[in-house]
Amino acid sequence: MVFSLLMGVVFALCQHFLYRWLHHQNVKDEDKKFRYVLYGRALAYCAKVAFGGCAVLVLRQRIWRAFRDRALSVLSIDQLFGATEDPTIFGNWEAISSAPFVVAIAMVVWLIPIATIIFSPGALTFGNYEDRQSLELMVPTVNFTAETNKNWRKPVGFVGGGNKRSVMYYNTTSRDPTAPGLFDYYDQPSAELKRTALLLAYNGMNHPNIRQDGRQGACGGSFNCTYEQTFVAPGYQCTEIAKGVNDMGRLKDLGAPFNTSELVPTGRYVYKAEVDFGAYARPQLPEDQVEKGPGGYPLDTPPEDLGVFKSEPVLWIGHSYNTSETIKADDPLASNWTHRYEPRIIRCVHMETEYKVMWDWKEPFFHSMATRKYLHPIIDTNHTIGEDGKPDLTVPPGPKENYISPRGDVSLYKKTAAYYALGEMFRTFLRGRVEMEPPLPGPGYAVVQSDHFTNTRLVGKSSEPKRNLSEEIESFYADMVISLLSAPEMLTVDNERVMVNRSNFKSSFVYVPQRLWQCYAPVIFITLLILAFGALTIWEDGTTFSTGFSRILVTTRNTTLDDISRGACLGNDPFPIELMHTKLKFGVLNEHTDVEYQNGDGYQGVGHCAFGVASEVGPIRRGIPYAGLQRRSKRQKVEKYED
Ligand SMILES: *[C@@H]1O[C@H](CO)[C@@H](O)[C@H](O)[C@H]1NC(C)=O
Ligand SMILES: *[C@@H]1O[C@H](CO)[C@@H](O)[C@H](O)[C@H]1NC(C)=O
Ligand SMILES: *[C@@H]1O[C@H](CO)[C@@H](O)[C@H](O)[C@H]1NC(C)=O
Ligand SMILES: *[C@@H]1O[C@H](CO)[C@@H](O)[C@H](O)[C@H]1NC(C)=O
Ligand SMILES: *[C@@H]1O[C@H](CO)[C@@H](O)[C@H](O)[C@H]1NC(C)=O
Ligand SMILES: *[C@@H]1O[C@H](CO)[C@@H](O)[C@H](O)[C@H]1NC(C)=O
Ligand SMILES: *[C@@H]1O[C@H](CO)[C@@H](O)[C@H](O)[C@H]1NC(C)=O
Repeated sequence: MVFSLLMGVVFALCQHFLYRWLHHQNVKDEDKKFRYVLYGRALAYCAKVAFGGCAVLVLRQRIWRAFRDRALSVLSIDQLFGATEDPTIFGNWEAISSAPFVVAIAMVVWLIPIATIIFSPGALTFGNYEDRQSLELMVPTVNFTAETNKNWRKPVGFVGGGNKRSVMYYNTTSRDPTAPGLFDYYDQPSAELKRTALLLAYNGMNHPNIRQDGRQGACGGSFNCTYEQTFVAPGYQCTEIAKGVNDMGRLKDLGAPFNTSELVPTGRYVYKAEVDFGAYARPQLPEDQVEKGPGGYPLDTPPEDLGVFKSEPVLWIGHSYNTSETIKADDPLASNWTHRYEPRIIRCVHMETEYKVMWDWKEPFFHSMATRKYLHPIIDTNHTIGEDGKPDLTVPPGPKENYISPRGDVSLYKKTAAYYALGEMFRTFLRGRVEMEPPLPGPGYAVVQSDHFTNTRLVGKSSEPKRNLSEEIESFYADMVISLLSAPEMLTVDNERVMVNRSNFKSSFVYVPQRLWQCYAPVIFITLLILAFGALTIWEDGTTFSTGFSRILVTTRNTTLDDISRGACLGNDPFPIELMHTKLKFGVLNEHTDVEYQNGDGYQGVGHCAFGVASEVGPIRRGIPYAGLQRRSKRQKVEKYED
């Protein structure tokens, strides 16, 4: 019994470990899958056999107790013997009431296969699960270092074919690359930069442009992934200088080129941008001082300030927005305006910026969030402010030691030029003005004097700039920088190793241990109870019992039975009804009826146990030696000696 139970537990554990091994395993081969499932079921079957075996052994032990306790009809005795094969016992009240434990154990034997064979394999299913992993991967990033070392005379190959592209074009001072004092100076943004910038500016969407296979590239395959990266690139830092019609103070200090009086409602503009004060001159030299054709070769010794970055234009942007607040009739503005407009002036400075970008690639979308930390102005010079309060362009900006010259630190010059090219590209989208015809006397409409501005995402409906233009400009520019990643042929696009958290859905075995143990725990517990009960019964009985044919043979050696079963010796079915209802009991045959028999045996006082009618059998007592095998063999030996 104990061995049976132990084996049951071992098989259940085997099933558990098999399933655990299969858990989240992606088995492609259908044939293998099928086999693994069968192995699990085979173990479940073995567990059933073991647990059932334990219960059956106890059942057999206990049956005899039932036969001894009460006289039962032959039908009930039949059914009790066959309780594990024939469920009709559960409809026999006599059996249930006389031998409740036996019937209960039989019930358990019937139920064990349901828990083990039918339900336990249900703990292993086949499904999709989200496989998460964290690993280091190469992801695209922006790195301007390559621009600082780039010499256009030495092309850098690109794995996709062709050469890497710079964000800018250079002019140079001599055709002869070995000429003394030769240097390259910035000309303009490159065609590739123009393309990526224009694509972003015109796509009207609120995110950077990415490559179509950006997610696969970054996540290293068909995954969803998130990661964070930092890089240094240019950024615009905007501050609001004036807010409202009469806010003039800071405008004067900073030398704003215009004030809010030009903006709606006092002026005509809903948008006015001055973005070119102190811009790098193009051409740098008058036409008669350079060779004809491309390259911008100076004819004479180049002047000292050729190609020098003296200042980076500050963006001065004025805009007005509709506050949706209605104007009262007695207000002087009421003659032309129905709703109050609020003017603002913002100033944006081009800064070297540390970007921290959180990428969240989630099929089919992606999300990127950039936080910016502004480091320092790219060209740290200021224009002096003239008497009219505007920047004085006749005086060179200062201080001079912050100028960035192509003859000095070349890599700093090239980095500055690359940043400048991005800023220059961006400024083309902001340049221009938008006038507004007031709604009274009407009709009100916007008059656009700009090539690009109203096509960008900075503009809301009806050609008016968005209300939070300051943040919009900053993030628009940030997205333009990040959009460089959409053009892997750019020199500024590099790869770096970062920690990536990625996930995807895998179809595989899914094992839920809970489900398995929900099946086995009650089975093990109940079998354990039954085992304990069986052990107790054995101890009480002082012997073990079984139900084989031989046991039936030896327990029916009673002449009374011969009498009542006359005519039914074939074992035929149906069995005579009246015989079926005869009540029999197992016990020690009464001494006085069996006295002859005992005398014949010659063993006085040794009882004989058999089935019999209730009146002829007495109780079996523990520890009394009834006619048993040992005695028999002794007697046979004695007979031999007598011979
Ligand atoms: C940028 O690239 C250079 C080499 O081209 C490398 O030394 C540097 O570490 C890179 N910077 C970042 C932030 O990856
Ligand atoms: C605002 O600018 C206008 C024209 O540019 C000028 O006439 C006016 O004096 C300025 N207002 C202030 C307060 O400076
Ligand atoms: C570079 O050279 C070309 C051709 O001579 C000229 O058109 C262009 O203006 C030059 N660029 C600068 C910044 O001088
Ligand atoms: C300003 O906003 C209000 C309410 O949103 C709208 O009714 C009105 O037409 C707007 N004014 C203009 C000039 O668009
Ligand atoms: C403002 O309204 C008055 C009266 O309705 C009109 O004469 C004037 O032209 C309007 N001003 C503008 C700038 O449209
Ligand atoms: C330029 O002006 C800004 C704003 O007033 C100031 O913060 C900055 O220090 C100035 N830069 C130089 C080099 O003077
Ligand atoms: C990525 O996430 C989305 C949304 O949660 C999901 O629909 C998609 O199946 C996921 N893709 C992969 C490859 O895990």
